[in-house]
Amino acid sequence: MPHFAAALVQWYQAHQRDLPWRHTQDPYLIWLSEVILQQTRVAQGLPYYQRFVEAYPTVAHLAQAPEQEVLRRWQGLGYYSRARNLHYTAQLVVRDWGGQFPTRYADLRQLKGIGPYTAAAVASFSANEAVAVVDGNVYRVLARVFGLEADIATPKGQRAFAELAAELLPVGQPSSTYNQAIMEFGALHCKPAAPECPTCPVRESCVAFASKRQGALPVKSKKLKIKQREFSYLVFVYQGRWLLRSRPAGDIWQGLYDFALVEDPDEAPAAWQAVLATAQAHPLLNLEGPQAVADFPLRLVQVSGVYRHVLTHQHLAVRFLEVEVLAPGLAAELAQVAGGEWFTAAQVHQLPKPILIANYLQERGVE
Ligand code: ADE
Repeated sequence: MPHFAAALVQWYQAHQRDLPWRHTQDPYLIWLSEVILQQTRVAQGLPYYQRFVEAYPTVAHLAQAPEQEVLRRWQGLGYYSRARNLHYTAQLVVRDWGGQFPTRYADLRQLKGIGPYTAAAVASFSANEAVAVVDGNVYRVLARVFGLEADIATPKGQRAFAELAAELLPVGQPSSTYNQAIMEFGALHCKPAAPECPTCPVRESCVAFASKRQGALPVKSKKLKIKQREFSYLVFVYQGRWLLRSRPAGDIWQGLYDFALVEDPDEAPAAWQAVLATAQAHPLLNLEGPQAVADFPLRLVQVSGVYRHVLTHQHLAVRFLEVEVLAPGLAAELAQVAGGEWFTAAQVHQLPKPILIANYLQERGVE
């Protein structure tokens, strides 16, 4: 065995915790333990594991239990979708595998609700399949020892770690001991905040130790917060022309054309606020014919449903309010306020537009 794997296995044999799922090769029990231990500390998960095993000794028992009862047993662990998934996967195993829990990585991955980590854990711990188990502990150990700077928050970084982990799997050895060893080493020794470097068996070859970068590795970029935005587009139509404007720099869709946009009604021009007030006075999508907009030569013709649009860092909820303009003076003023122009349908067709706008226009028969 290469030095790294051998050193970890030796460490594991001396320091491993005695945990019940380490005394079984039953893939169902191993899977159960892994699902419970996702986002749960061992000390907290242990009593749940014991209660689940007692209540549901086989996957068929779990599959047959009422969902309410499974959820009740899960109570206190949080993330109830995990419990629902657990129950659902048990039913799939009974239905599609005759209650024989699969042990091959490829088969496990076919089961909805079993991801790469859990599939590898079950395949390795129950059948010693040569697959590497990569969890948060493994990221930390590999990043530090091998100085791998790839960002574990990105798919590309995760791939880099998965490749390294696969290369490190000792050939011709049962994968189970090695995989458990590296995870346990991360959990107990190469800890996030206080790694115990003075007594570390791989210290001599550890890049992070040599360069004092234990605190900087692994690299994990902060997840960007998804911003929720609500757009109301005022689709002004005047004598068969449509008011669009080119989107300014500094926001999404720079240079593409869209309609007059209200995001913060308090900051909108008076005519636009009047349109919104008219729309608000009517149940959604039920104008019962065009509505006059108080104080302005405008008619609200229709209000769309909400379109949802997902961008990388923003989720948009968008509705379109189509407004007929009845006076030339106001048409000129609206174009000026919006920073846009009046376009014929043929011209609109030529403009570059966000797909959301193009879809709306298409539904209106313009695009
Ligand atoms: N956390 C997740 N899986 C684990 C396992 N098999 N042993 C200990 N801790 C774990």
